[in-house]
Amino acid sequence: SSPSLTLGIETSCDETGIALYHSEKGLIAHTLYSQIKLHAEYGGVVPELASRDHIRKITPLIQETLKKGQVSAKDITGIAYTAGPGLMGALLSGASVARSLAFAWQIPAIAIHHMEGHLLAPMLEETQPEFPFVCLLVSGGHTMIIRVDGIGRYKLLGDTLDDAAGEAFDKTAKMLGLGYPGGPEVSKLALQGQTDRYKFPRPMVDRPGLDMSFSGLKTFTLNTWLKAKESGDDSEQTKADICRAFEVAVADTLSIKCKRALEQEGLNRLVVSGGVSANREIRAKLDALMAKRKGSAFYPRLEFCTDNGAMIAYAGSKRLDAGQSSDLNFACQPRWDL
Ligand code: KG4
Ligand code: ZN
Repeated sequence: SSPSLTLGIETSCDETGIALYHSEKGLIAHTLYSQIKLHAEYGGVVPELASRDHIRKITPLIQETLKKGQVSAKDITGIAYTAGPGLMGALLSGASVARSLAFAWQIPAIAIHHMEGHLLAPMLEETQPEFPFVCLLVSGGHTMIIRVDGIGRYKLLGDTLDDAAGEAFDKTAKMLGLGYPGGPEVSKLALQGQTDRYKFPRPMVDRPGLDMSFSGLKTFTLNTWLKAKESGDDSEQTKADICRAFEVAVADTLSIKCKRALEQEGLNRLVVSGGVSANREIRAKLDALMAKRKGSAFYPRLEFCTDNGAMIAYAGSKRLDAGQSSDLNFACQPRWDL
């Protein structure tokens, strides 16, 4: 069949991501506009402001991406857009542009699950994991362990029962008075922390199964901080030590669960994706796990760990090439199971 060129549009939260994926040449161009500065003063994403900013940026970004990739609009053969989960207004901004362009250009559009985008993001790298593999998806909204047998063939093995790992990082940052988003801030301060001053719990590792929980760990962190402050010790060093203990506890917990999942499934390929997969300590722990097992770990490049258009263009390209598409009246879904 003739090669395809897919335009990918990601607008589920606070990043506008646009990309072009060619079935033979791979990723041709991608652009990203982050709204982090806009939301920082509120300590979190303000949905109404996010939608307005997506609408403002999306068309210029598409123009810029076409220019970067040196392709003209008429070369595009299909459009992929994130249809959920995410903020409804943000999703709708991207979806309505995607579908209007598909209608005007008379090409198919496909609705993509945001977490499928994350899950397939390591496929944009030079060495790609072969199916089947175990995938740890860790983002601001999700913490899942999934068995992946192919595109669209996902089996949920474990999930968080409360907070997502990224959410725990963000909330920990907030209570320590660090910036938004919290993951990178906690991680940066943890670099100066001592490893052995505090020992935090590894939630749910003593129980069988692959489900996880991070809300208790978050509370433990808060209590440790409050106790330290009460005793008059609210130094930067103590903050750093707490960040370090928190980060190590999360990394350890994820590593124990991944090991269990690989053993259970009889697999030795681990894919780690989503915003939290950018974390240095988590990568180190999982690399060590896979080295010990003589298996391999796969991650997206750092810029594709967090939200981006490239992962949506990739997922869409695979699905469109397989003959799939979505009706132009497909409803965006703020909550959507993978
Ligand atoms: O995938 P993503 O961009 O958006 C969602 O789909 O949620 O993930 C964002 C999350 C945030 O919670 C952020 O704090 C976390 O990823 N994150 C990190 C790091 N970089 C981003 N968490 C820990 N360490 C990092 N280096
Ligand atoms: Zn995401």
